Amino acid sequence: MSVRRLAEDNVQPAAFAFNEENAAWAEATIRKYPEGRQQSAVIPLLMRAQEQDGWVTRAAIEFVAEKLAMPYIRVLEVATFYTQFQLKPVGTRAHVQVCGTTPCMLRGAEDLIAVCKKKIAPEPFTLNAEGTLSWEEVECQGACVNAPMVMIFKDSYEDLTPIHLEHIIDRFDAGKGRDVTPGPQIDRIYSAPVGGPVALTSEIKPVRFVANPPAAAEPAVDVPPANAAKPVTAAEETNPALKTPATDKKAAAENVEVSGENADKAGAPVAATLDSPDRPAGIDRPATPDDLKMISGVGPKIEGTLHELGIYTFAQVASWKKNERDWVDSYLKFKGRIDRDDWVKQAEVLARGGEAEYIKVFGKKPR
Ligand code: FES
Repeated sequence: MSVRRLAEDNVQPAAFAFNEENAAWAEATIRKYPEGRQQSAVIPLLMRAQEQDGWVTRAAIEFVAEKLAMPYIRVLEVATFYTQFQLKPVGTRAHVQVCGTTPCMLRGAEDLIAVCKKKIAPEPFTLNAEGTLSWEEVECQGACVNAPMVMIFKDSYEDLTPIHLEHIIDRFDAGKGRDVTPGPQIDRIYSAPVGGPVALTSEIKPVRFVANPPAAAEPAVDVPPANAAKPVTAAEETNPALKTPATDKKAAAENVEVSGENADKAGAPVAATLDSPDRPAGIDRPATPDDLKMISGVGPKIEGTLHELGIYTFAQVASWKKNERDWVDSYLKFKGRIDRDDWVKQAEVLARGGEAEYIKVFGKKPR
């Protein structure tokens, strides 16, 4: 934390006053507080003064102190304590606050500071030649999960690389900062996992609720519509790999309906259908299926789903073509995780030499 002092006298204006709009806003803000507690408006008023002039001048501090009937030193203490208040002139188009606290530092904040030094000025709180840009290093801004990040005005820009930051600075310097959408600058929704959910991804079937079920003990019978698919046989039920597109239409329709509902909420694509030609071929369950859980990214539940699809061996997974990988990925709602975890390579190594080969290739035990 740097020492925070007011700017030199030669840059301090002689006086401060709110413009008409801000003056009305200040009066309304002060009235929000109970009688005798008007001093609580000190932070909002200082912030409004900063938004009006770009920084907090000594004259503004004196103005707020007088307005709230506070000793000047009390308002000065507030202005110098909170780093949100700029005590010197900053860039007219952007003042870039780079978070340098541990999570951001570990994720590349030093590279972002290097960009600021190169594009703005070698030292913090120094204006660029045109007076449009300045920067400083600040403490944690509360967006650590999307580190590294910067704040510009009231917006944060997260998951940054040096290239992202260079682009953002260029847009602000061109007066087009509002073109850049705040928040994560990568494929991430708010602070959700990169690439989409990785937990609790199993499909949730809607449950039909009947408030007053009939008292009769007659078993409920679903009457299929005239164009309903052929019922699934008992043999097909125990081994879905044997299902034909025709017998599987009903399941596929259910699948699309549920995943479509979820997809709307999450913005995810509609899940693969079981009768797709891209679905990898299944086999009958062998006497000793491979332990698919040895593939990183496959747990007991996913292994069960793969078995339902007729996938039992490493060799099957190793043979998947791109369209088949995409189909399985979509079916599992993995959003690219199969390729990211390279299931095909893992399966190929496990098929070739089991755990020993896996350790030799990947330098660690399979899960
Ligand atoms: S450490 Fe940078 S936002 Fe928290």
